[in-house]
Amino acid sequence: LKLAHKKSEVRHIVADWQYNGDRIALVPTMGALHDGHISLIRQAHLHSDRVVVSVFVNPLQFGPGEDFDQYPRTLTRDVEICRKEGVALVFAPDQMEMYGNGGSGQDHFISLQISKMNEHLCGARRKGHFEGVLQVVSKLFNIVHADVAVFGQKDIQQYYIIHQLVEEYDFPVELIMGPTMRDADGLALSSRNEYLSADERKLAPMLFGGLQRLSDRVNDTMKSLKESGEFKTVLLDKSFISEEILRLEENNFNVDYLSVVSVPDLQPADVIEPGRLYVAAVAAWIGNTRLIDNIFLNG
Ligand code: PAF
Repeated sequence: LKLAHKKSEVRHIVADWQYNGDRIALVPTMGALHDGHISLIRQAHLHSDRVVVSVFVNPLQFGPGEDFDQYPRTLTRDVEICRKEGVALVFAPDQMEMYGNGGSGQDHFISLQISKMNEHLCGARRKGHFEGVLQVVSKLFNIVHADVAVFGQKDIQQYYIIHQLVEEYDFPVELIMGPTMRDADGLALSSRNEYLSADERKLAPMLFGGLQRLSDRVNDTMKSLKESGEFKTVLLDKSFISEEILRLEENNFNVDYLSVVSVPDLQPADVIEPGRLYVAAVAAWIGNTRLIDNIFLNG
């Protein structure tokens, strides 16, 4: 395993590999690697000859008062995990290397604006977050020059926004979505789970429980319609959503959103069309920790 802190080192190493015909996969991360990341690394191996993992806690995607300072930084451990997982290169730049000019990234003059896909879910709640993600991800694409990049389903809005970026700006990279990894009780793995107290941790799987119930109810409706030969668009029963929000709020969650949106445009769904794909997504606070999760729904 090679560890590089400079963009120029990465460019040289990857150019050499690609000259020899190797296909390169990139797994962008903010470190604090857990089994969710390991599963993305394993996906990356399936699609490439060499895997590059980037580790960079990107200040641009944290808003004022968010957990940038608190975010776990465990590079030595992350590198060991990458070594065990057969990663060829870890790219761990500091802020100065990544952004230059003081290193905060705040003083860049060009930023990508996201329109409709940013209006709901986390985009509506975390102003500037996805612009910050696009800033760093487009830099990583240009630095690493990978043939394929793997992002997790857990950050579903991030995935589809990056997908749109790749399409609209012709980044020569193929995107793969890695499935969400979960603890045995259903809680989606996240570096932020470390912030949970023991009591909060016990409650946290309720998020996925709510999504599953919602998905079962929508899927059951669609299935029984199909069985009766009716392939028709149905109104989404919003009372399912309100019930799940209520259940969470009664258990001391503070719900940012629980919504059903269509894929890939991420617009709120009022109806479910047969054959279309939707996602039910949730973001909620337990104490001081904000957790997100989502599940696909089939029309
Ligand atoms: O998903 C993440 O960990 C981050 O948003 C990413 C893609 C590494 C960009 O900083």
